[in-house]
Amino acid sequence: MSTIAGTSTSKPATPPTSNNGHGVQQPSEAMAKLIANQAGKGDKPIVFVNGRYVPKSEATVSVYDHGLLYGDGIFEGIRVYRGRIFMCGQHMDRLWASAEGIQMEIPISREEMVEVMRECIRLNGLTDAYIRLVVTRGAGTLGLDPRKCPLPGIVCIADQIALYPPELYRDGMKVVVAKRPRIPVEALDPRIKSLNYLNNILAKTEAIAAGCLEAIMLNMQGYVCECTGDNIFAIKGGKVFTPPSSAGALEGITRRFVIERLCPDTKTACEEKMMRIEEFLTADEVFLTGSAAEIISVTGIERDGKVHTISKGEGPVTKKLRERFRAIVTSEHVPED
Ligand SMILES: Cc1ncc(COP(=O)(O)O)c(C=O)c1O
Repeated sequence: MSTIAGTSTSKPATPPTSNNGHGVQQPSEAMAKLIANQAGKGDKPIVFVNGRYVPKSEATVSVYDHGLLYGDGIFEGIRVYRGRIFMCGQHMDRLWASAEGIQMEIPISREEMVEVMRECIRLNGLTDAYIRLVVTRGAGTLGLDPRKCPLPGIVCIADQIALYPPELYRDGMKVVVAKRPRIPVEALDPRIKSLNYLNNILAKTEAIAAGCLEAIMLNMQGYVCECTGDNIFAIKGGKVFTPPSSAGALEGITRRFVIERLCPDTKTACEEKMMRIEEFLTADEVFLTGSAAEIISVTGIERDGKVHTISKGEGPVTKKLRERFRAIVTSEHVPED
């Protein structure tokens, strides 16, 4: 068992509490100092792993964890702006819905989970950050049976993220249309944000082979779903369109923020619609959204080796939406619900 001092002992860094198997508890001030001291030696960030706050080098899980063995688990990627957890309530709703989708019971309450995130932010002295919250099926036996994993594992990492180089936000990015289709909705509900990303990773390798950083994924019927780690939008005649979840898209929190907040704020019409790739190739503008990516313009789409230019740099509607987004997340009213 790991401790904050870098030695092995059976004593947990945070004492267990009675109501759950992870002993989620606030570290004392003295404990926080000790952890911070360790982290100050380049061992940052302090990470929450199964009930303990430990330096990065000690943030490890069992090789018997089914999250590792089978990708059996769920996660959230969350932004922190000005010390506030952006759309925290919606992320918690989605995490709990994902858990239900894989018939897993998260062993701590929503309130405790939020406290874990706040503690990670505090211990690492962060104000603008990215949180990766992971709930694994937990350690079990060598076999798929989830019943052999008595206690789900919980990991919370609060760190910095730079998904795409800054110049791409100014100039826009090129994406490729992946040949590999999205796993059908009937086989895997895209609303479950699972640890199992091989379908997306293999599509991403198609992007990398084409010199891009993202790939558009189509479903088995040839409709556009989303990208490997981002939702996708097309703009035509000033109106914004995005594929529905039923096409195979994750119900992205940033996507929802665009639909429910940024479009109304900027008086931009928005509609969910099943779309073929041609509608994107002939759109006035295309952009992607994600907690890590935020809002980024797509200026070129490569399909079958041919690049279709969408716009010269970021288009006016994307710019308006992105600027509204930035105004909100840099304001004193960063929404947490
Ligand atoms: C496949 C996929 N689509 C879309 C998104 C964007 O979702 P959100 O805005 O909630 O980050 C993600 C983010 O992780 C993703 O993995």
